[in-house]
Amino acid sequence: MFDVVIKNAKLFLEGKVQEAELAITDGRITKIAKDIGGDNILDAHGSLVLPGVIDVHVHFRDPGMTHKEDWYSGSCAAAAGGVTTVIDHPNTVPPTTTLKSFEVKLNAAKKSIVDFGINAGVVDGAELEALWKAGITAFGEIYMAESMGKMCVDDDALSNALKTIAQLDGIACIHAEDERIIKERTEKLMNKTDPSAYSSSRPNESEANAITKATESASTAECKLHICHISTKEGLRLLEKNVTCEVTPHHLFFTEKDWDRLGTLGKVNPPLRSEGDRQALWAGLNRIDMIASDHAPHALEEKEQDIWSAPPGVPGVETSLPLMLHAVKAGHISLQCLVERMAINPARVFGLNGKGDIKVGNDADLVFVDFKNVTPIKADDMHSKAGWTPFEGMDAIFPKMTMIRGGIVFDGEVVGEKGYGRFIPGEGATNLYINEGK
Ligand code: DOR
Repeated sequence: MFDVVIKNAKLFLEGKVQEAELAITDGRITKIAKDIGGDNILDAHGSLVLPGVIDVHVHFRDPGMTHKEDWYSGSCAAAAGGVTTVIDHPNTVPPTTTLKSFEVKLNAAKKSIVDFGINAGVVDGAELEALWKAGITAFGEIYMAESMGKMCVDDDALSNALKTIAQLDGIACIHAEDERIIKERTEKLMNKTDPSAYSSSRPNESEANAITKATESASTAECKLHICHISTKEGLRLLEKNVTCEVTPHHLFFTEKDWDRLGTLGKVNPPLRSEGDRQALWAGLNRIDMIASDHAPHALEEKEQDIWSAPPGVPGVETSLPLMLHAVKAGHISLQCLVERMAINPARVFGLNGKGDIKVGNDADLVFVDFKNVTPIKADDMHSKAGWTPFEGMDAIFPKMTMIRGGIVFDGEVVGEKGYGRFIPGEGATNLYINEGK
């Protein structure tokens, strides 16, 4: 009757851990009860079982920069880190701004072992309506300042795009930094060689200004707004009630002091901030909707240039859940806070129906965890092509097993078949690109 029944599990159900069995049929959760029984039993050996993580912000670099990452390596890293669904951002080569480039990305993503959504890029001439109908998840990140990929938009282009996105009833995801402030500061600091000058070149007021501008523009357009990787106390204070946001583990765990240890490996946009900002982010987790990795891998030799030439970004899709689970063990956040921010809220906000929670009818996207399993993060163990991690040596709790739609993709090692991952069409999708026969 059921394909498999998971027993001896502590399931995270309705906000708390409960001992129960869980049955799966055709990739979906079909029954949750104290005692289901059945022939095909998967013994969880007392593991905690959480909904699979939805990482709404990854850069898998494919197409165009596959020496940094590709859909297979990136998705293996995701699976090993308990991430069952990723949303890929548009600054690839070509950028995902036209129907044609969307098709190229969708084709590249056929290598993925985890489920995925694809975001559309917003630049002058981007085919926003066609992309929405093709099934993109959301729009952005929309760059209000240059970062990777030369996709910065000016104020007029932003407000025009927000009007279109509002008409489509989509969500605009904003990279909130202010290009003018950054340009002025960078000109003054360019002669500095100390990596920490990079934080000064992209100050807190840059994030604050950009959030204010984006909020005004979105409210005029009546457009849904999501702020990517919030990093400052000022930014947090400026968040309007109806605006959602995400925070990254690197902004939760690192500060400007880490420049000494990380050098140019710590270069990221928005940059590493002060201890005061870091503490404000932890204290503000109740207001922050999601934790997302902003997984942005670069090759080591690219990162080992001077601070102004090195590309911004750090890998993180494999380490975000393990670091946050360790934070739960250390008592910094509750398990409920983690599950809401890493699974439930991402699914709700981005309309990923059937994902994000352990309940009957949903996909059986599950992560099996043992809180005793504390290990230091080591670059050698990671699956990203980056080959390095800024979190080297930090204690983490990696999943024992990751399951997507009832199929095991990670079981101490990656076992998911290349191409197992499915495209999850967004809310505007016509049926043009929906997975056939999977
Ligand atoms: O540090 C960053 N890296 N921030 C971004 O906004 C883009 C990302 C990348 O694609 O490398």
